[in-house]
Amino acid sequence: MESATSISEILSGKKVNEDVTIRGWLHNKRSSGGIHFFIVRDGTGVIQCTIKKDRVAEDVFDAAKKITQESTMEIRGVVKEDQRAPGGYEIQACDMKILHLAEEGFPVAKKYHGPDFLLDHRHLWIRSQKMQRILRVRAGMLRAAREWLDQNGFTEFHAPTLISAACEGGATLFTVKYFDGEAYLTQSWQLYAEAAIASLGKIYTIAPSFRAEKSKTRRHLTEFWHLEVEVPWCDLEGIMKIEEDLLTYILHSLAERSARDLEALGRQPGDLLKINPPFPRITYDEAVEMLNRDGVKFEWGNDLGWIEEKRLTLKFDKPFFVTHYPRSAKAFYHKPDPRRPEVTLSADLLAPEGYGEITGGGQRIENINDLLDRIRENNLNPEDYKWYIDLRRYGSVPHAGFGLGVERTVAWVCKLNHIRDAIAFPRLINRIYP
Ligand code: 4AD
Ligand code: MG
Repeated sequence: MESATSISEILSGKKVNEDVTIRGWLHNKRSSGGIHFFIVRDGTGVIQCTIKKDRVAEDVFDAAKKITQESTMEIRGVVKEDQRAPGGYEIQACDMKILHLAEEGFPVAKKYHGPDFLLDHRHLWIRSQKMQRILRVRAGMLRAAREWLDQNGFTEFHAPTLISAACEGGATLFTVKYFDGEAYLTQSWQLYAEAAIASLGKIYTIAPSFRAEKSKTRRHLTEFWHLEVEVPWCDLEGIMKIEEDLLTYILHSLAERSARDLEALGRQPGDLLKINPPFPRITYDEAVEMLNRDGVKFEWGNDLGWIEEKRLTLKFDKPFFVTHYPRSAKAFYHKPDPRRPEVTLSADLLAPEGYGEITGGGQRIENINDLLDRIRENNLNPEDYKWYIDLRRYGSVPHAGFGLGVERTVAWVCKLNHIRDAIAFPRLINRIYP
């Protein structure tokens, strides 16, 4: 097809007084007397187009009168600067061709709809301005993450999705039929990443992870995107340093490149620019003390839940690490602290403003006997982890890594109430359609 001008290019101000052709969807329309105001969307932005009776052919003006929301069209006209138009520019049309006249009654037209209705019509709702903005911020986040990781010597690596043994505990494993047997969907790339550092050194991935989360919460999906990093010759402090540098780069890059989308979502880009390393670090013990002082009953040894994390986030205005979780609260691969073996060299990164955990990680066990002890302590079968244990036989090194939940991070950055809006087609305990 012949190429059209993108709306983003027009909104950048480079096309004023020029003749352009755009192609897009009719986002909405209003008319007054001899003039129709179209808001047209093309995936790069939205722009106002005016169709005036005395500037277009009669049949074009009549077609414009009858056109329905979401119809697709091609508009030719001249670009004018106009402060009253959203975005500051408009196209004064001289011609319009309808490419597809949409059916009447677009289901998610501008009126209030409940969340279930919008989830049932997600295939159409992703066209909304709000979803467009979130999805662009999400893409910008992953682009920035890749930039930082590539520039800092990390190699992208892909682990399998179909796996044979749990990484994060059996309770949230999805089972799939695998010919005559069974397999699981991956919860994390981690065990494979630990194998791959001996091949590639510092590595990362951006891939879906799956958790059969049986509770309905605002921060759990059953399928989420996981940004994971694994690094040889790295300890707990080293991995926290990587996390804070990476996240800072992502936030600053979004503040600069996605400012308009962020503002429209209610996030001031300046908030993100203020975030710089080092992030505060508190130990799990200190967190428990803080909670107890606040009158929150919490028993040492449990994992922090949403209520506890929410409480802690009120005390910080930027992301902060909680370190040294008890071994009872963390998966088998976490290295116990040699100075105090009842806790592990682990760290979760918590986002402020009530959001809580966005990353989990820490230092891994590198000694074969320590690993076997932890596998038995967790009632796991060493047979299932034979290849993983093997890694401690051939060139074991201190190493560490983490996983960042992409949707959790998008939800925080975009100030969303619910994680489901951080992904186009959310998978939840009660939802797998559309
Ligand atoms: O804390 P988690 O379970 O850690 C791991 O999976 C490690 N193996 C990662 C690693 O060290 N490579 O998960 C990591 C992050 C969490 O902090 C959270 O942000 C996100 O993944 N996450 C979820 N996001 C949405 N829905 C869920 N059900 C999630 N479960 C974890
Ligand atoms: Mg976790």
